[in-house]
Parts: sequence; structure tokens; C-alpha cells
Amino acid sequence: MDEQVRERVQVFLSEVKQIPTLPDVYLRLQKAFEDPWLSVEYISNIIRLDQTLTISILRLANSPFFGFRKKISSITQAVMLIGLREVYSLVLSISVMGIFPLKEVDQGNLFPAKKLWEHCLAVGVASRVLGKMIGYAQPEELFVAGLIHDIGKLVEKMYLGEKFVTVCQRSRDEERPFLELEEEILGFTHAEVGEMLAEMWGFPALLVSITAHHHHPEKLTEPKSADGAAIVHVADALVRAMGIGWGGDPFVPPIVPAALERLALITPSSLGSVLLKIRQEYDTALRFLMH
Ligand SMILES: [Fe+2]
Repeated sequence: MDEQVRERVQVFLSEVKQIPTLPDVYLRLQKAFEDPWLSVEYISNIIRLDQTLTISILRLANSPFFGFRKKISSITQAVMLIGLREVYSLVLSISVMGIFPLKEVDQGNLFPAKKLWEHCLAVGVASRVLGKMIGYAQPEELFVAGLIHDIGKLVEKMYLGEKFVTVCQRSRDEERPFLELEEEILGFTHAEVGEMLAEMWGFPALLVSITAHHHHPEKLTEPKSADGAAIVHVADALVRAMGIGWGGDPFVPPIVPAALERLALITPSSLGSVLLKIRQEYDTALRFLMH
């Protein structure tokens, strides 16, 4: 990130009196994952301390979102079946969704938070679908990456006040992309706000760089994050083209050629089935994650 832009984002975030914090249980898990002797039992014990999280995980583990055939009745069983890394991703997703108001009814609002969450959830689902198709090592990480990619927009919406309204209004009246107006009016974009938040929250480096580069995946060179950013970038365009949720404007952003090259396995002839899969998985996720 450019130094001047970083300074501007810092000023914005320093004016936010209370940056939302992640729940204790997530922070404990984050710490636990630094331990090389990490065990299923240890992780299960941390999760069990939080009753709401325990219920959410059991509910999700038994949902078609994971597709396990047998009934999962304990956290240890869920952690074993879902996997340690995946459980971490899941807790991160549930934690982030929990700190931003989901059911906000803001009718007449230019940028309803609920619609933005629908966009983010769909990009998470689509990223996981694309990741599985190209054989990405940890598709669950892509789900979280997609889910949080536009987190900067939520923070802007909550704390920027009039300036945020101006960005939305001008984008609508001048029929110009939201991203372009963020640059023009604010001097920074949600990708940079998201990058800084992800850093502040101590998210894994992969998530920080995907959030930062989801509009310019070509700038990344390290293969895993470059693939991840390319996937989220393409997923964003597909979800907008499918008309799911609201990302700030009605435009389908152009896909950078380098991102398409990285996803060469997805051909025009397979696109129909990819879109169908995204739609089906999104409907399931919507039922089980945004209730
Ligand atoms: Fe974005």
C-alpha cells in the first residue's frame, strides 16, 4: 500500500472510537494455532467455553453446507470431521459476522448492510467452489477470504458518515463504479481499509493479502496468495453478474486477464455448471449462516 494512502486510512481508523474487536474465543484459538502441539481436544475445549459458538458449529456441521452423512453430536467429533484449519476458518467467519450488524433494516438506504453481507457470503461460496475446481489446497480458507473481502466497505459504512453517503450517491447519479469514487472522494479504497483491519485483527497473512488485492490480483507474485486473490476477484465478478446482494454499484467489474489465466481450468463451456453450483451452495449457506 502506498505510504500516503496508508496514512489516510490510519487517520480514518484512528477517528473510529471503537474499532470492533473479535470475541475472546477467536483470540484464544488464534493463539492456540501458534502452538505446534495443537490437538483436537485442546481446540474443542476452547470452543466449548463459548456456548453460542458451540451451538453454531454443531448446527453448521449438521447442515448440508458440509454434507456429512452421520449426525454430529459433539464438538470433538465436529472438529475431527471438519478439520482443525477449517474449524479455525469457520470460527473466524462466525466471529466477523457476529460483530457487524446483520439484520439491519435500512430501507431507503443506498447501501443496505444486509445486501452487502449477501454479496460477501456469495463471494465466499463462489470462491470455495472455484477453489475446489482448480484444486486449491485449502478451499475453506477461500470461503473466509471471500466472506471478508469487502469488510472495508462495512467499516466505511458504519463510521464514515456523510462522506460514505456522498460516495454512494455520486456512484448512483454519475453511474460510475463505487471503487473509483472511493479513490476520488476519500483518497483510499475499502481494499486498503480491509487490509489494515485484517492486520489489526492479526488475521493470517494470506487473508490480509487477498483482502488487499482482490481488485488487483495481478500485483501478487507468491503463488498461493496470487491464486487466492485471482479466485476471489473472479468470484466477485461472477456474483455481481448473477445479481446476488449489493456490492455498492450495479456494474460487473472487468476481470483482469492474469486472474483468468490462473483459473484456466474454468472454460466458457463449464461456466453454466459453475454458476449453478454457486447458486445452490449460496442458497444453502444463506439458510445456515445468515439466520
Ligand atoms: Fe471490493
